[in-house]
Amino acid sequence: MKLTALLSLAAAVAALPTTTDVVPRASISKADGTKFNIDGVTKYYAGTNSYWIGFLTNDNDVDVIMGHLETSGHKILRVWGFNDAKSPQSGQVYFQSFSGSTASVNTGALGLQRLDAVVKAAEKHGIKLIINFVNNWTDYGGMAAYYSACGVSSNAQWYQAAKCQTMYQAYIKAVVSRYRNSNAVFAWELANEPRCNGCQTSVLTDWIRKTSDYIRSLDSDHMITVGDEGFGLAGATTYPYQYGEGIDWRANLALPNISFGTFHLYVDSWGVSNDKAFGDNWVAAHANICKELNKPCLFEEYGVTNAADHCPVESGWQKKSLSLRNDGMAGDLFWQLGDKIQSTGQQTHNDGHTIYYGSADWTCLVDNHVKNIG
Ligand SMILES: *[C@@H]1O[C@H](CO)[C@@H](O)[C@H](O)[C@H]1NC(C)=O
Ligand SMILES: *[C@@H]1O[C@H](CO)[C@@H](O)[C@H](O)[C@H]1NC(C)=O
Repeated sequence: MKLTALLSLAAAVAALPTTTDVVPRASISKADGTKFNIDGVTKYYAGTNSYWIGFLTNDNDVDVIMGHLETSGHKILRVWGFNDAKSPQSGQVYFQSFSGSTASVNTGALGLQRLDAVVKAAEKHGIKLIINFVNNWTDYGGMAAYYSACGVSSNAQWYQAAKCQTMYQAYIKAVVSRYRNSNAVFAWELANEPRCNGCQTSVLTDWIRKTSDYIRSLDSDHMITVGDEGFGLAGATTYPYQYGEGIDWRANLALPNISFGTFHLYVDSWGVSNDKAFGDNWVAAHANICKELNKPCLFEEYGVTNAADHCPVESGWQKKSLSLRNDGMAGDLFWQLGDKIQSTGQQTHNDGHTIYYGSADWTCLVDNHVKNIG
């Protein structure tokens, strides 16, 4: 109880420059070989994704949802730590805006204070957050929101343009310095699904090295990861194994300030057949590399669009991942969390992949999975 209060206070004052580290080191989530250690316990962990939780405007709504994760035995939640708006409307939640050739961080009530509520609720409920810094896609702005302010017109240019990177790093600094002292931070994440289509893989590897070193210079403790889809693996000829999206997965994971590997799985949008077998092989291919490099692998997003397939297909992938818990796999997070927003009575966004708290899919993919993990 006391510890929670202290940590919430720490989050509230983290925006102020401070050199005092108030987080007991034992409570910092870390890599332990190919597994994760959370609050001193090394084991396989389950969790989910919520891009929207930092955009809710009612603190209690956030707290109730975080409480549901806690009582369900989920431990890791991946959230959008960005919300980039080119021309924000009044009343809109956004974390960064752009005007002319400048970027400004919004620390107001509808700005990073929304993320503060997420961090605070996570601290209270023992949930650990993966917080990412920019989107490859245009949802919530993404790299494209920076384009005119930093003088580029593509993501490929964005990764390499000094001005874009200065803005991006300033945003990273604003977020990291705000929550650096919170034990609710599981890991900092460079981007959601960074791609550089048709680029040499050195473009992204250089960007990942530079950015992870930068984050490490701001925070010597928390884990750092990429947030990519897991493309670019030798060994098979289907699209996701190719290097065309600019990702060399092993080279990126081998970078010294990258703590663990991420990969996603969307058989529907990747146009690959045989969901079960493709998925199992995909998980195993990444686990092999993690084992070799002695870093954990996180199966960070996965989903299928056909609702009737949610339970059978996704639980099969969960079992595959869990079966490799001593062979490289450290945890999995399905896409995406669904719940009822208490203050409005509305259900959160159903994108076809959503697994709602309290549903039969939840029993299948959360309750049963958590039981299997033990
Ligand atoms: C994300 O990256 C891919 C590959 O570079 C690109 O095709 C796609 O357009 C990107 N998204 C945006 C919004 O640029
Ligand atoms: C990791 O980042 C830190 C901080 O920028 C840097 O000093 C260090 O050289 C990097 N680690 C390695 C092994 O390159």
